[in-house]
Amino acid sequence: MRRKLAAGNWKMNGTQASLAELGKLATAHAAPAVDILICPPATLITAACAHAPIAIGAQDCHMASAGAHTGDIAAAQLKDAGATAVILGHSERRDAHEEHSDLVRAKARAAQAEGLMAIVCMGESLAQREAQNTLDIIGGQLAGSIPDSSTGENLVVAYEPIWAIGTGLVPSLDQISEVHGFIRARLERRFGAGVGRSVRLLYGGSVKPDNAADIFTVPDVDGALVGGASLTAADFSPIIKALEAV
Ligand code: 13P
Repeated sequence: MRRKLAAGNWKMNGTQASLAELGKLATAHAAPAVDILICPPATLITAACAHAPIAIGAQDCHMASAGAHTGDIAAAQLKDAGATAVILGHSERRDAHEEHSDLVRAKARAAQAEGLMAIVCMGESLAQREAQNTLDIIGGQLAGSIPDSSTGENLVVAYEPIWAIGTGLVPSLDQISEVHGFIRARLERRFGAGVGRSVRLLYGGSVKPDNAADIFTVPDVDGALVGGASLTAADFSPIIKALEAV
């Protein structure tokens, strides 16, 4: 029912030369059984769009549609550049740019209004997990970050425990299952079963070729949001294949 999604977040990595990796991916996955999305830096979005069937997304947008916001990019501009999706509320932005859930929700609303798919990220810190506050934190971020305008087409939720990002640490499959099940239940409660069950839920945080297949067995894991291992076709391709094999 939910089409699987293998999404890559290049973060602040990549130049024109990196587009060769997209070429390799597109050749290796000419007719994929899952959706493939790469979110390169904004400088590469338009050039990256030459590599169908890989969809291209952005990593942030402004909540306003235009105006005096030096250095920011509006959702309409991302769409104009060729993006079909945008990552919002990544923990690196929540942390380094002090983005709170209200702002993330406003950005997600702006993205959806332009027809972009908002990939809204959330996750707990290690201290919050150790204090057994994970579900409270996720519940708060879900309630605060997701706009009422959300549907199964224009919203994806990514669960990314902060302590698992770029560390090689991965939660147990039970821990992932608990959080994804919780997110699913909350979405169904808020939006009803139809929409709630159609929103795709991604796991992110140190997903690699050697652990992807196990992670993809977890119920309500509809794919992954991959950082470091999305930078090369050699690493990302086996993750895509693991998702196709589910
Ligand atoms: P890593 O896969 O490098 O841990 O990054 C995950 C992430 O933050 C994706 O948004």
